Amino acid sequence: MLRQFLRSRRKAKRVAADEALDALLKDDHGRFAYLASLEQECADSSLIGLLEDALKLPGDVVECGVFRGASLRRIAKTVGDIAPDRTIFGLDSFEGFPEGGITEEDTQRFRSETRLMGKFKDADDVPDRLSRFGKTFGLKIDLRKGYFENTLPGIADRQFCFLHIDCDTYAGHKEVLEALYDRLTPGATIVLDDYNDEAWPGATKAVDEFLGPLGVEIKQSTAREEPAWYAIKPV
Ligand SMILES: C[S@@+](CC[C@H](N)C(=O)[O-])C[C@H]1O[C@@H](n2cnc3c(N)ncnc32)[C@H](O)[C@@H]1O
Repeated sequence: MLRQFLRSRRKAKRVAADEALDALLKDDHGRFAYLASLEQECADSSLIGLLEDALKLPGDVVECGVFRGASLRRIAKTVGDIAPDRTIFGLDSFEGFPEGGITEEDTQRFRSETRLMGKFKDADDVPDRLSRFGKTFGLKIDLRKGYFENTLPGIADRQFCFLHIDCDTYAGHKEVLEALYDRLTPGATIVLDDYNDEAWPGATKAVDEFLGPLGVEIKQSTAREEPAWYAIKPV
C-alpha cells in the first residue's frame, strides 16, 4: 500500500517535470531555453562525447532502455546537430520489465524480484512526449514500444554506429547484445550504462559473458563530468 502510494507520488512528480518541458516547446523563447539546458547536459556527458566520435562512422543510433527519455533527448539532439539524416531508435516497453525478466543474476539482499519488477512501470505518457520533442526540433526519433523480444527483430536489418544499453537486467543485456552486436559497424561504440553498477550485478555479468570471449575490452570514459562505461567493436 505504502509502496503503491510512493510510486504514484513519484510518477506525479516525473510527469509534472515533463509537462514543464513540454510547455517550453510552445514558443521560441521556451524552445531556446530547452535547447540551452540540453546543451549543458550534453557538455557534461561522456556518453555524448563517445556518441560524437561514433557518428564519424556510418550507421544509425539505438538506445535500449528509454524510460522517460532523459538520455534519449540528449542523444537525439546530438545526432540532430551532427548527422541529422541518421535515425535514433528508442526501444522500451514503457511499462517496465517483462514477466520473468528479473532473474537470480539481478537480485540481491534487499532487492527482491517483486520489488524490482515494480520499477519503471509508469511511462505510458512518454512516447507521445518524445514524438512531440522530435517533431519540434526536426529529429528522426523512431520509438519502438514493446518488450525487446518483440521489438529487436524489427530493427535487425539496420546498421548502427552507436548502441546505448540502459536496461538494467542480465536478460535484457543478453537479448540486446545477441540481437544487435552483428548489426554494429566495425569500430562502433556500445555505451553500457549499468556496467559495474552494484545495484544491477547481472548487467556486468551479461556484458562480460558476451563481450569477454570476443576479446572486446570494456573501458571507462571520464572525458566529461559524467563518466561512461563503453566498448568499441573491433575493426
Ligand atoms: C534505467 S531505465 C532507462 C533510463 C533512461 N535511459 C534514462 O536516461 O532515464 C530502464 C528501462 O529499460 C526498460 N526495459 C528493461 N528491460 C526491458 C525489456 N526486456 N523490454 C523493453 N524494455 C525494457 C524499462 O522499461 C525501463 O524503462
